[in-house]
Amino acid sequence: MSKTRIKYICSKCGYESLKWLGKCPECDDWNTFTEEIIETSKRRITTAKTKVSVAKLDEISADKKERIKTGIAEFDRVLGGGLMPGSVILLVGDPGIGKSTLAMQAVAQVSEKVLYVTGEESDAQIKLRASRLKLVPDDFFVFPETDLGHIIAAINNVSPAVVVIDSIQTIYRPELENSPGTITQIRECTSLLMEEAKRKHFSVIIIGHVTKEGMVAGPKILEHIVDTVIQFEGDAHHSLRILRAQKNRFGSTNEIGVFDMREDGLHEVLNPSELFLNGSERKTPGSAVTSSIEGTRPILLEVQALVTTSNYGYPQRVTTGFDQRRLSILLAVLEKRAKIRVSANNIFVNMAGGVRINEPAVDLAVCCSIASSLFDKAINNKTVVVGEVGLGGEIRTVNNIEKRIQEAERLGFKRVIVPAGNSSGISSTPKIEITSVENLTDAIKILLG
Ligand code: TYD
Ligand code: MG
Repeated sequence: MSKTRIKYICSKCGYESLKWLGKCPECDDWNTFTEEIIETSKRRITTAKTKVSVAKLDEISADKKERIKTGIAEFDRVLGGGLMPGSVILLVGDPGIGKSTLAMQAVAQVSEKVLYVTGEESDAQIKLRASRLKLVPDDFFVFPETDLGHIIAAINNVSPAVVVIDSIQTIYRPELENSPGTITQIRECTSLLMEEAKRKHFSVIIIGHVTKEGMVAGPKILEHIVDTVIQFEGDAHHSLRILRAQKNRFGSTNEIGVFDMREDGLHEVLNPSELFLNGSERKTPGSAVTSSIEGTRPILLEVQALVTTSNYGYPQRVTTGFDQRRLSILLAVLEKRAKIRVSANNIFVNMAGGVRINEPAVDLAVCCSIASSLFDKAINNKTVVVGEVGLGGEIRTVNNIEKRIQEAERLGFKRVIVPAGNSSGISSTPKIEITSVENLTDAIKILLG
């Protein structure tokens, strides 16, 4: 006998409670609890009459499975070399960022059968998108459906090598009493799809929306189930898009893919530095070029700062693409260690090009761009600044220094400012001048005289 019961589940971390709570005790977030109907049945494990076979490790044949290449090399790179047969990939991102476009462009060029299940658009809309993207796929089946039973029937019918589910929030199992998009439905549908995928060896790309709070509905819950989680991010006002792996059972998580969203779809950006540096030839106070490692590739980008006098007692600190708290720390170091007074100024920091950077190696460039704007003196535009700033005002070493220098050299820069601790790790590069700095005061003196 099964009976139904109501439970409250945190849509962020999956914490379960018997009564509604305003704040989740697990992840400390507010207003995340949703009502879910839970079916409970007697839990008895039956072992009699069940025949199981267990294999020894050396008896198992593990032929290296051929990965399926998609039409997008950047997409394959993020996945670790293509789609692994039988794997489940969760593709998440803000609504309208281009998830459907990316999935469509990627799978349309797969040489095997593809089933595109859409719960959001009609088949005619899919057709229109394909023609907008100038795609003429061969074995490409479109199925506008939301009932998981019908979807699995279609999979049995078509036997595709790749299935796209657009999106998981619209798919449901009618047997459950919950409405589509609830945690129970999402979890149930994902695990059923996963089981089917493992059994029939097709790959599934599941598209998931991010909610207003910036989280996938039930992200933690799905992260455990699926093999790979990739996030598609970007700024709605810029055409730049970045694809990042957050979890990957079949590859590394530090590769990124860079795309440019144009009228006719996503274009791969093979030289991101050139895109980010576009237009930085001018010599403006407040601008510094730095080199950040994104994935395994170095990307040169421009940090811009604007320092103005505040007329109020409470100056503004606004950042785009950079952590605001990190900026507060850097400002404190500038004041205390480099003796540069900024506490009464409004400070705006911007990573040009709409990219978001979390790497500490850009610290020094942020500090220097602020000093440059404050003193109204431009930094030489052929100089790249790299280094993490410590609380003592010391410049700390960064990883991959050689890669960063090579990229600067490749793009015609003349000088790189590097942390003193890194200088021993650099083999000679005659074409570019390398200046090592020990602390923030020295760096600012060298750059701004
Ligand atoms: P879409 O893939 O539908 O986003 P998602 O599935 O993540 O919600 O794409 C949304 C936006 O992308 C839409 O506003 C139009 C734009 N777009 C282009 O700029 N070029 C294109 O070729 C396509 C298909 C869409
Ligand atoms: Mg979509």
